[in-house]
Amino acid sequence: MRIYRTKDYDAMSQKAAEILAAQVTLKPDCVLGLATGSTPIGTYRKLIEWYEAGILDFSRVHTVNLDEYMGLPGTHDQSYRYFMQHNLFDHINIPRESTNVPDGTAADAQAECERYERVIAGLGRVSIQVLGMGHNGHIGFNEPADHFPLDTHPVDLTDTTINANARFFASRDEVPRRAITMGIRTILRARRILVVVSGEDKAEIVRKAFTGPVTPQVPASVLQLHPNVTLVGDEAALSKL
Ligand code: GLP
Repeated sequence: MRIYRTKDYDAMSQKAAEILAAQVTLKPDCVLGLATGSTPIGTYRKLIEWYEAGILDFSRVHTVNLDEYMGLPGTHDQSYRYFMQHNLFDHINIPRESTNVPDGTAADAQAECERYERVIAGLGRVSIQVLGMGHNGHIGFNEPADHFPLDTHPVDLTDTTINANARFFASRDEVPRRAITMGIRTILRARRILVVVSGEDKAEIVRKAFTGPVTPQVPASVLQLHPNVTLVGDEAALSKL
């Protein structure tokens, strides 16, 4: 595993964006696996800047996102489709049809999960998958469990996750209780994984995930088994590594 320790959130965003930009430059038709959450927002902002400066071209890139809330249409300002449009896609030259986020409004969630797996498989291997980490070690919405869920699947969110994400909604009651997420096997198929972490509140889970036992109780610990992981974190988040 390669670790980049940066002084703060801005430097973390810069480093993570450099890695993604290098990927897009080297392989203009690459497949980027993308994540939501507050951590990668600064990374996406840098990519937008470099696109505007004429340094990056996304016209041949495809993207697949990790997850989506169930029950929220893409027009809802807390849906992950909306997040991606707002924080990245609307500001770069990627065709909308080249971007993929699970459809949280699909009537048949299981069928949507199967469709999403086919979409990912049809694109070939994800070149680089961005991951944030939940405080309980979740990646995508793969919550602590007694086994690693393999494929894209519907999931019941844990109280920890509902509480953590309540800050984005008017009230806790409005946070969706279910989501669709790529599974662990789906994530591990990516050629390369780029984990971004920031802030002291992530230090303990970063330590557990990367130095503790590999266990589905800490879903991110499975990344220890992937041959090409890059961890980019600020000093606070890496303070216990
Ligand atoms: C959500 C997303 C995850 C993300 C996590 C951490 O639950 N489903 O993909 O990694 O939040 O978010 P943050 O970066 O805001 O800490």
